[in-house]
Amino acid sequence: MSEHMKAAVVRRYGPPHVVQIEQVPQPVPGPHEVLIRVRAATVSSADWRLRSLSMPYGFGLAGRLAFGVTAPRQLILGSELSGDVVAVGASVHNFALGDAVVAFPGAKLGAHAEYCCMNANAAMVRKPEALSYTSAAALAFGGTTALDFFRRGALQAGESALINGASGTVGSAMVQLAVAAGARVTAVCSGPNVELMHQLGATRVVDYTKADFASEGIRYDVIADTVGNAPYSRVHHALTPRGRLLLVLATLPEMLRAPWVNHTSQRRLVAGPAAERVEDLRTLVAMAADGRFTPLIDSSFSLDEIASAHARVETNRKRGSVVVHSRGMSGP
Ligand SMILES: NC(=O)c1ccc[n+]([C@@H]2O[C@H](COP(=O)([O-])OP(=O)(O)OC[C@H]3O[C@@H](n4cnc5c(N)ncnc54)[C@H](OP(=O)(O)O)[C@@H]3O)[C@@H](O)[C@H]2O)c1
Repeated sequence: MSEHMKAAVVRRYGPPHVVQIEQVPQPVPGPHEVLIRVRAATVSSADWRLRSLSMPYGFGLAGRLAFGVTAPRQLILGSELSGDVVAVGASVHNFALGDAVVAFPGAKLGAHAEYCCMNANAAMVRKPEALSYTSAAALAFGGTTALDFFRRGALQAGESALINGASGTVGSAMVQLAVAAGARVTAVCSGPNVELMHQLGATRVVDYTKADFASEGIRYDVIADTVGNAPYSRVHHALTPRGRLLLVLATLPEMLRAPWVNHTSQRRLVAGPAAERVEDLRTLVAMAADGRFTPLIDSSFSLDEIASAHARVETNRKRGSVVVHSRGMSGP
């Protein structure tokens, strides 16, 4: 008889309460997989989008086709986690029983449960002792997105970068990783988050409730938008002549505009899903272990309280990441 586990299950699209705690069969690792006892995971903006089918403008139909027409195809959400390896497939040689790990199932999801299987060659690395399970669970989603967009946007040391939506999960990772890359960073957030942005290393902060960064007459080498209110038509004059606009949150019209902009001007528009690379996860874990990158934690919930975690994410006001802890783990 198969073993069972507790998991947060989404059987239909809807508000936070559609996420229900259920007993489901515990996954069994294949020969190339490990079974992880999940200690911590996050409820991300991607989980909110998938649970409520809230897609960026123009992607409604594509979202249904990709994630399930009438209900989510993947019942257990959660794209990043930390935990301990409790079973190892016969062909796995790079992880062992008892290893503490950081894993990024990414689009495969499945982290909102007591146990999760990962391919041993996917985005998973050992967790250094210096890194708490909480921080380890909260570094992949924002961190890999930031690294991938900066790579595609060719951010260089000495350049100026503006991060719009700087207090969110992706934005706060972008601020810290741009600073670590040697860029001069301007953060855009609301008043209560201004001081936090300076603490993360931003040299300038624009409170969007008081000023519009696109109308200040200042130009940036890179503008990254995680909010969705900085289309090329509105902000291109705030870019240097070879400036790059990184649309982490892009509407379909902006995605379609990118090839045209890239063909007809020296500026570049970068959009589309971020890559999920084990090398980036390794970089982030190393940076988090030695203090160069500190994933920002908004709040923590138990797995039983995951509907409240979804409700917090849905406010669109979280500072960094919302973490859920599995049974038996409430601290870091
Ligand atoms: N392309 C990709 O592969 C990819 C990957 C990851 C995420 N994304 C997308 O990127 C977006 C951001 O993700 P996230 O996880 O970072 O979101 P998040 O953490 O939920 O963002 C919340 C933050 O947004 C800020 N915010 C809200 N309205 C704002 C405004 N008008 N101007 C500036 N800041 C504002 C809030 O700060 P205040 O309270 O100060 O307003 C809050 O701190 C999501 O839409 C997600 O779907 C795309």
